[in-house]
Amino acid sequence: MKTSTSLIRTKLERISSYEDARAKARYALPRALFDYIDGGSEGEYTMRRNVEAFEELVWRPKQAIYHEQIDTATEVLGTKLSMPVMTAPCGGMRLVHPDGDIGLVKASGNFGICHIASAVSGFPLEEIAASHPGPKWFQLYRLGSRPLMESLVHRAQAAGFGAIVVTVDSVVVGYREKDYRNGFSFNMRVDLKNMARMAPRVVTRPRWLYHYWRDGMPFQISNTMPVEGGEALPLSAMGRTDLSHSPTWDDIEWIRANWEGPLVVKGVMGAEDARRAVDAGADGIVISNHGGRQLEGAPATIDVLPKIAAEVGGETTILLDSGVRRANDVARAVALGAHAVLIGRMSVYGLALGGEAGVTRMLKLLHQELVRTLRLLGVGSIHDLNPSFIDGTLPGRAAPNPSTR
Ligand SMILES: Cc1cc2nc3c(=O)[nH]c(=O)nc-3n(C[C@H](O)[C@H](O)[C@H](O)COP(=O)(O)O)c2cc1C
Repeated sequence: MKTSTSLIRTKLERISSYEDARAKARYALPRALFDYIDGGSEGEYTMRRNVEAFEELVWRPKQAIYHEQIDTATEVLGTKLSMPVMTAPCGGMRLVHPDGDIGLVKASGNFGICHIASAVSGFPLEEIAASHPGPKWFQLYRLGSRPLMESLVHRAQAAGFGAIVVTVDSVVVGYREKDYRNGFSFNMRVDLKNMARMAPRVVTRPRWLYHYWRDGMPFQISNTMPVEGGEALPLSAMGRTDLSHSPTWDDIEWIRANWEGPLVVKGVMGAEDARRAVDAGADGIVISNHGGRQLEGAPATIDVLPKIAAEVGGETTILLDSGVRRANDVARAVALGAHAVLIGRMSVYGLALGGEAGVTRMLKLLHQELVRTLRLLGVGSIHDLNPSFIDGTLPGRAAPNPSTR
């Protein structure tokens, strides 16, 4: 008879794609939590466009070439990666599964890639750093206060994170209508009133409820505990609009002067800001619109990649996220000038379905698919991709400039 662990593993092995994982996560998570992960801001145009823009890029493969060995490994700012992928910083992960951020770090580390731990993680950053010897970076928010931000920088350095990733697209949180409708907000607290309100939607997800209850029903930003005199700030701190949650350029200057190691600016969407980040001393940027969760009407990241690569490609490391759903998208981004991509929802759905093992399943899928894609393109290494492999776009869209890499 199969043990429950091997049954779970068999179930995870059956996940065939991002869309499959997403569909299964819809049944595993309470509605409000699924929507929190899945949703975007306002009319979700930017979120949809992120995916469409990848799909519209078409390949020009080199045929009749078979490479026995396929090299997917790369190095980004001194961090070695088994494939050009990192798991993106995502807040609130301990609500999704008790493994939370630690599951993400372990799955990523064991797979030979890097996890970027969110400032608004469910575990203190020191615990995340100590949980696995693999590479990990720390993502920073301002969280409304300069002293809080500064203390996070010092703590992340002391804990041994390999790089700091400063998210600049979140001075305030985007308006996510599904969260509003569901009553799932950063102002929510785990109290009797809210539990009674959520109960009808939560009891239909007994497995999730059991896990959450066993974990002590956490709903807080663990990293704020020492600064707030032992009392953790509720996630409601992120809901305030009278304070900036993203570091400003002034803050970034301070971070540069006080952080030893690579500094990456996440949320850059145009060539001017890319230049500004480089001038401020950043070693890398993440082209990101936060998965379509912040400014509605922002362009798709893959659409702006060629222009940004033309501006700063020779001088800085370019990472990209938002809308990566397949290894085919990873290869498209690398072909157009990205050194690596971040995956957000893809790893979060894996986490929802099986904690650390679920994330591992999603990474395995991605790696297998990447090897197959490179073979079909006729290249033996991820480093052989360049803009000449992109034939253009499906009708109705301007072609990216192939001379930017
Ligand atoms: C549930 C969730 C929480 C997120 N929390 C953070 C965060 O704490 N810090 C941050 O910089 N980005 C955060 N992001 C954005 C991701 O880092 C990443 O930019 C985005 O998910 C990429 O888009 P994708 O989900 O389409 O892959 C979050 C995204 C999701 C889906």
